[in-house]
Amino acid sequence: MLSIPIDIGLPRSPHIVTSLPGPRAKAIVERDRAVTSPSYTRDYPLVVARGEGCMVEDVDGNVFLDMTAGIAVTATGHAHPEVVQAIQEQAAMLLHMSGTDFYYEPMVELAEKLAIRAPFPNGARVFFSNSGTESNEGAIKLARYYTGRSLIVAFLGAFHGRTYGAMSLTASKTVQRANFGPLLPGVTHIPYGTHASLDYLEKQLFPTMLPPKEVAAIVVEAIQGEGGYIVPEDGFLQRLREICDRFGILMIVDEVQSGMGRTGRLFAIEHWGVMPDIITTAKGIASGLPLGAILARPEIMTWQPGSHATTFGGNPVACAAAIATLKLLESGLMANATQMGELLQAGLHRLSQQFPQISPPRGKGLMVAVDLLDSEGKFDSMLRNRILQEAFLRGLLLLGCGKAAIRFCPPLVIDSDQIQTALQILFEVLAEIQC
Ligand SMILES: Cc1ncc(COP(=O)(O)O)c(C=O)c1O
Repeated sequence: MLSIPIDIGLPRSPHIVTSLPGPRAKAIVERDRAVTSPSYTRDYPLVVARGEGCMVEDVDGNVFLDMTAGIAVTATGHAHPEVVQAIQEQAAMLLHMSGTDFYYEPMVELAEKLAIRAPFPNGARVFFSNSGTESNEGAIKLARYYTGRSLIVAFLGAFHGRTYGAMSLTASKTVQRANFGPLLPGVTHIPYGTHASLDYLEKQLFPTMLPPKEVAAIVVEAIQGEGGYIVPEDGFLQRLREICDRFGILMIVDEVQSGMGRTGRLFAIEHWGVMPDIITTAKGIASGLPLGAILARPEIMTWQPGSHATTFGGNPVACAAAIATLKLLESGLMANATQMGELLQAGLHRLSQQFPQISPPRGKGLMVAVDLLDSEGKFDSMLRNRILQEAFLRGLLLLGCGKAAIRFCPPLVIDSDQIQTALQILFEVLAEIQC
């Protein structure tokens, strides 16, 4: 059971009162179209006004069950009272001073808390950023700086961000790279998650074109996120660690999506008992405020003053939100993620037995996905997109990922009734599509 009751101002299940989008939402979408970048990717016209726990209300008073958490961000739910209170108290004290040039306690306190929880042998040093891509950008720089090497190995299907370094590691969708070249040189991609791929690295690439002693880092998601919530084969991450050890390569684990309790552990890599050299995180760390962090073994984060810095990273208000988030994760939310994830997967298993259009689920904790399949068992992205729309019209917010997957990454405060509601809506959508 969760230790902190959420104040109920919104209903705890979907409540649709207009056609969708409603009149106010329609007007805002039109205004948006005129002035915001066309590069944003919106699957359906949801215009959010407020949120609470796992529910969000749109500008027309329609209430939705949110299985997206704003792309796996609002770990403690929308507007958790303890997080809101921490933000308000800190905002009234100090909004900004820049941790690059000055000191303030929330940044130190958060670094201390992360350092003792990092799955490293001797604690950690922490560099704070504002986002996932910035965390990965910094990790690439740190790996090159520390090793004096330049090459990097990453994985097909990976998503590490949109800035040049991180984008050069990203290999999720061509549209994310097209027309932006040249990218960072020296990055080699191999297939994700299989021993066959590591055989290829060791037996084909290392002896022929990729001198392992020139590789600074292998960058890997513990569970691949945008690529489809892919869980690697047993032993894959352990073997990667062993390869890194053999050649003095740093193992960087990108936990931007899988971290901060989402899989039932603070970092997903803990499921495999592997100790990386560097972990990057962001998204759920501050429950919705922009914050990222690079955690590194202390003997690795040895760059000199001025070599890496940021104006906003580790902002005091974001750090206060993260301290409150961490406390909530450890006082029930991570355990809830494990329990609710099991319930969700059990329900999705039942649906996959009933409907040949969906695959059995995969994932850990509340990082779960299913694929949508056509009558020949091939990935069906059109069907996936249709289901996202139909679920939206019934008050269920879902996101896609991978080739034709639907991901379930709700706030970690979700309860069993809400899991059942999500499953029931999915059932209704699949039943209608089958007719
Ligand atoms: C695994 C992973 N790394 C990095 C990023 C980039 O994070 P941001 O959008 O905060 O830059 C994402 C975003 O989805 C992600 O899933």
